[in-house]
Amino acid sequence: MSLWSKHAIFEKNSIILVIAVLIVIAIGGIVEIVPLFYLKNTIEKVEGVRPYTPLELAGRNIYVREGCYNCHSQMIRPLRDEVERYGHYSLAAESMYDRPFQWGSKRTGPDLARVGGKYSDDWHRDHLRDPRSVVPGSVMPAYPWLAETELDVEHIADDLKVQAWLGVPYTEEMIANAKADVRIQATADHPDAAALAQRYPNAQARDFDGNPARITEADALIAYLQMLGTQINFKLYDDKANIR
Ligand code: HEC
Repeated sequence: MSLWSKHAIFEKNSIILVIAVLIVIAIGGIVEIVPLFYLKNTIEKVEGVRPYTPLELAGRNIYVREGCYNCHSQMIRPLRDEVERYGHYSLAAESMYDRPFQWGSKRTGPDLARVGGKYSDDWHRDHLRDPRSVVPGSVMPAYPWLAETELDVEHIADDLKVQAWLGVPYTEEMIANAKADVRIQATADHPDAAALAQRYPNAQARDFDGNPARITEADALIAYLQMLGTQINFKLYDDKANIR
């Protein structure tokens, strides 16, 4: 009996055929999946990406709390119309410290992945207080309480601790200084600005909400919005990757 005639077992018995098919598919799946468990990281490391400052993280928490993601995505797809409208397509590294990520596919409003630096702080403050005051016809809801509510930083160090536990590289020093760093970043020309910049390169520090008397939720949210998409120098990145 030749090897090939044994194949008749599969052709004559459908149950054996199904089991054999499943085994073959499983091998294919294992070959695809198992290497992922042995790779240290599936995200390409990109220069410039750093963890959020405590103020930005607080702003991000407000972004999530207010459900901004219901109307805004933070993921520019590598499609021509998106890249022309919003800028360079998003890289995995840009959301590597986002827990939870803010990608999304629902856009009642525009994508916000590169909104940092697009508008002034004053514009954001007015837009959050009353979107129609700067964009007539906008259907975005108003968030007037943000600029009136003192930012609660009671648990900011714990927030950093949880993020560190999930793998974000916050150091002991960053956690110990979390509360102080909120104040340093939300104050124009703070004497400790250099220490903040050393912990968080390129952190923008100033009074974001136009009210130096106190640190509000608007300070945190605007600090977060103003850093979105600003960490990577895409000219250098594309030259290195040879993409044009
Ligand atoms: C009901 C849907 C909706 C929600 C919820 C929403 N937005 Fe918007 N957003 C819009 C729309 C529509 C626009 C475009 C018109 C405008 O600029 O107001 C917009 C525009 C923006 C812009 C300007 C983007 C650009 O590139 O011009 C920013 C920044 C923004 N939203 C931030 C936020 C933040 C922060 C929150 C949560 C506090 C939020 N939005 C919640 C619908 C929404």
